[in-house]
Amino acid sequence: MGIWLEGKTLAKEIKEKVKKEVSYCLKKKNQKPGLVGILVGKNKASQVYLRIKERSCFEMGIHSEILNLPADINPSALKSKIETLNQREDIDGILVQLPLPSSLDPYEIINSILPEKDVDGFHPYNLGNLLMNQIGLKPCTPLGIIELLKNREISIEGKRVVIIGRSLIVGKPLAAMMTNENGTVTICHSRTKNLSQVAAEADILVAAMGRGAFVTPEFIKEGATVVDVGMNYLTDREKMESLFGKDEKREKDINEKGYTLIGDVHPLVIEKAEYLTPVPRGVGPLTVALLMRNTLDAFKRRKNLQ
Ligand code: GUN
Repeated sequence: MGIWLEGKTLAKEIKEKVKKEVSYCLKKKNQKPGLVGILVGKNKASQVYLRIKERSCFEMGIHSEILNLPADINPSALKSKIETLNQREDIDGILVQLPLPSSLDPYEIINSILPEKDVDGFHPYNLGNLLMNQIGLKPCTPLGIIELLKNREISIEGKRVVIIGRSLIVGKPLAAMMTNENGTVTICHSRTKNLSQVAAEADILVAAMGRGAFVTPEFIKEGATVVDVGMNYLTDREKMESLFGKDEKREKDINEKGYTLIGDVHPLVIEKAEYLTPVPRGVGPLTVALLMRNTLDAFKRRKNLQ
């Protein structure tokens, strides 16, 4: 039976540090960081994530704004909004919540954010720096995963790391970070042949493909560390009971909200893995904490406060 690897405690520690530094800067320099989240359209999950980020800014003493824009906004109008934020002295971080409506090209939009304000670390300049193992703003979820492993003294060096999912948000930047930490990295995706066999070679397995409970015990090497990045909405009560048995918290979720959040990893994996991050309370809280730290870092770099 493995150990649940919660991200909550570390997330709290990171946020405490950010909060202290923000209050120090406000006292000594009379300045505070500012973050703007841009939501294009009305994607429900994106609305929830942005609200969580906004609440966290409030707790940190970071100024925050959410820009709600219509789904049919044209690319040049959106880029001109971003340009205005690029110019604003009081704004240090700009994040465009993904996914964007299909009419917008994320590459073109992200490219219009000033790299020093790109607190998501998705701009080609920041991703290039990451590939070259240089200091810079790095994507929050992969950064959270690396910090969690380091914090628990789970070494990456020399380990077989298998990442399922090749997204810009998690899979690709995480592969670069794991490589920089001297892991031996394989990225798998929907076209990978013999996926479960490849996964079963991993000392560290990261599931980030967005398919609820897809990673079953046959994907797992005995004693592996398993990181579950999935955030899937499960509405089917019977399916929930077949996965989790009698689970009061999840039953309450379905009764009150109509869904319960589940990861990409099947709950039975805990019996084979050494460590498994839960969903919720695993990697999610770290993503938000690292966004706060990135915003503080961007602020300090822009204002020459380091
Ligand atoms: N959508 C899901 N995760 C993220 C994230 O970390 N940043 C942005 N901008 N969009 C997301």
